Amino acid sequence: MSKDKVQIFDTTLRDGEQVPGCKLDAGQKLVIAERLDQLGVDIIEAGFPISSPGDFKSVSQISELVKNATVCGLTRAVKKDIEVAAQALKLAKKPRIHTGIGTSDSHIKYKFNSNRDAIIERAVSAVSYAKTFVEDVEFYAEDAGRTDNEFLAKICEAVVKAGATVLNIPDTTGYCLPEEYGAKMKYLKENVTGIHKATLSCHCHNDLGLATANSIAGVINGARQIECTINGIGERAGNTALEEVVMILRQHPDLNLDTNINSKLLYDTSRMVSEKMGMIVQPNKAIVGANAFAHSSGIHQDGVIKNRETYEIIDPVDVGVNESSIVLTARSGRAALAYRAKIVGYELTKKQLDVVYQEFLKFADEHKEISDNDIPKIIETSKLKIESVSQ
Ligand code: KIV
Ligand code: ZN
Repeated sequence: MSKDKVQIFDTTLRDGEQVPGCKLDAGQKLVIAERLDQLGVDIIEAGFPISSPGDFKSVSQISELVKNATVCGLTRAVKKDIEVAAQALKLAKKPRIHTGIGTSDSHIKYKFNSNRDAIIERAVSAVSYAKTFVEDVEFYAEDAGRTDNEFLAKICEAVVKAGATVLNIPDTTGYCLPEEYGAKMKYLKENVTGIHKATLSCHCHNDLGLATANSIAGVINGARQIECTINGIGERAGNTALEEVVMILRQHPDLNLDTNINSKLLYDTSRMVSEKMGMIVQPNKAIVGANAFAHSSGIHQDGVIKNRETYEIIDPVDVGVNESSIVLTARSGRAALAYRAKIVGYELTKKQLDVVYQEFLKFADEHKEISDNDIPKIIETSKLKIESVSQ
């Protein structure tokens, strides 16, 4: 049975670039956009054109450059924003305007000093106006995570009627629990008249570490687009990590959902974004962290050496990492030492291994990690003992 496609909407260059200190120049943005296109993302959110002349310019340049993906520009529900975004997207093969407004009571009261009916009116006029420039218009209901479902359904219905092709349901503050976010999608699917004319989209922030779980709950409950960033970068605690949602769907064929992403480019793309933004990837980051395929405890190493699948659910090659690594530390066992010693040219008998292992432990207690260069030194130190054992 063919799987349902989940569209991947990458916002590394918009929500991701809002990270303090991670500003990219126009050239860097172009290189990343080109890579995202090769990676197979369906939509690239290239920027917020009215926010600065530089952002306008890079959205225009990305629009001209990108061959396959839809290129999207963000706007507020403001006429001038929409005009400027349309202008910046003029050369895009597939342009999309992403417009919207805050819909939670807190946003309506404190940001807009307004009321629900007036917010619906502004949303509808923004979508209708954007439709005069492009066919593909995505509407975001900012702070949808804390918006009451009945009102959310009402505003979604109104903007679909006005021609919105995608309904973005952001959990802007990262507040929702997965069950709650999933139930929100289900509610919209079941209560918005005309919902079949639009795609529901997950846009989750990671303030409680739930962005990925919430996005997955969203697609299980009917959404068919996930908004995410490479390495999960973004405002505050970040956005949903692209590499995580892509690999979750790959590792769970039972969900019957997949994306167009070429997963073999994930690791390389992660490093490229990290390097260009000057933002390190935490070593224990799922899928792309330096330790994601590294094994250091004796029990795990023994298992992985016998069969990789004992402690790995993903083949590292599938995400562009050459191989799993067996890292030698004071927690490593004989199997790992013998394995790495063999790689650097020493085939140890069982008795030799027993002796070298004692030297290895002494050395390991004094050093955080033992490199391949240390192994000959350790064997050298044990040499006499090895010979006496071998006699
Ligand atoms: O988090 C959010 O609500 C957003 C919108 C502007 C789409 O980034
Ligand atoms: Zn966001």
